[in-house]
Amino acid sequence: MDRFLIQGGSRLHGDVVISGAKNSALPLLCASLLTAQPLTLRNLPPLHDVRTMLKLLAGTGVRVSEDPTDEAATLQANAVDRLEAPYEMVKTMRASILVLGPMLARFGEARVSLPGGCAIGQRPVDQHIRGLQAMGAEIHLEHGDIVAKASRLRGATIATDMVTVTGTENLLMAATLAEGTTTLLNAACEPEVVDLARCLRAMGAQIEGEGTDRIVVHGVEALGGAEHPIMADRIEAGTFLAAVLATRGDVFLRRACAEDMGATVQKLAQAGLEMEIARDGIRARAQQRPQPVSLRTAPYPAFATDMQAQLMAVNAIADGVSTVSETIFENRFMHVQELRRMGASIDIDGHTAVVKGVERLTGARVMATDLRASAGLVIAAMTADGETEIDRIYHLDRGYDRMEDKLRALGAQVRRVTSGATQ
Ligand code: EPU
Repeated sequence: MDRFLIQGGSRLHGDVVISGAKNSALPLLCASLLTAQPLTLRNLPPLHDVRTMLKLLAGTGVRVSEDPTDEAATLQANAVDRLEAPYEMVKTMRASILVLGPMLARFGEARVSLPGGCAIGQRPVDQHIRGLQAMGAEIHLEHGDIVAKASRLRGATIATDMVTVTGTENLLMAATLAEGTTTLLNAACEPEVVDLARCLRAMGAQIEGEGTDRIVVHGVEALGGAEHPIMADRIEAGTFLAAVLATRGDVFLRRACAEDMGATVQKLAQAGLEMEIARDGIRARAQQRPQPVSLRTAPYPAFATDMQAQLMAVNAIADGVSTVSETIFENRFMHVQELRRMGASIDIDGHTAVVKGVERLTGARVMATDLRASAGLVIAAMTADGETEIDRIYHLDRGYDRMEDKLRALGAQVRRVTSGATQ
């Protein structure tokens, strides 16, 4: 299992290119199931989760041709013969559920292993299932699999009980090929949903209202091929911004899109990060110890749960006290115990953490527990006195593209240790 060894104390400086967004790439790859024509995705990040999704789709019969030099892949679903997402795939990546809507809409059936709980929370998929049932699908559970059938999905008005990102994406994709009009109420407004809608529209879908909580989809008989550039990863960009602030660095984040990152940019500015928004990216710099910023995670456009751990790391070294409330996932504070091992002073009271900033963290052996928790630990480690060893870095590889290479190019002292060897 890979580990990171990080020597704290370097200030980040230079240029970094922000990759395509993981949480946009995953639904977009599944959108290939909606058409027999080729779908080309550019700016596809070479991440572990993207590999898993490509493998899952290839297993159904989707033809995949990759152009790694161009970070692009073309997918063609003209010979799909296995309408399923097996347990082995779903257990390693919950986003596998995103094949359910497209398969059902185009082929009239799907079998997708029911995702279990995960490290950050229970994460049920009941809203995906109820939405598809409202569109006429017959769904039952069989040996741990969701088994779904529908001769043709029908448009419906669906109000989800809570805002769900992949739930909205699944229902949006399903609705493109349904008979009649589907209205999604309480829809997720996340930029990744907007990116998906744009691609679906380029494929011939009729969609209005993406980016708002009411999306209207007029179903069509068939969709065609398209070429789509995946949006820049706003969470990767936010992670680098937080790292610049924590290390008092000076970095240009090429391709970062400030428009998609309102709440993150606002909180980081309050914490003392100076930013200049340019057409092709964001220049960020900091010279002083961060100011504490209190925050509460909530669906977009509020502060993203996927940035909570990184801001917690910044608050851990800030000049004062802050509160961090997590409202999306019930167990997303696991990085707190690890940050405490590094000398952070954090108390948890229910869904709120009270963070008393300390002048300096100290290097320690810590464990990554999920993707964004790992990113928070990397930020903390870069500010700490001495060396930090972060175990289970595979979490990070799921969602950050060559993070250690990017950080090293900015002057950080990060080494990956692979089963006894150092790189
Ligand atoms: N929920 C239900 N029932 C459902 C669906 C969701 O109860 O049917 C609950 C969840 O348990 C959670 C809340 O609703 O408490 C919101 O979950 P959501 O469905 O929005 O999360 P998701 O779609 O499974 C995506 C991202 C996550 C990100 C969340 C929240 C992808 C592939 N994943 O997950 O990304 O944290 O939205 O913004 O888009 C990450 O990248 O590290 C990550 C975890």
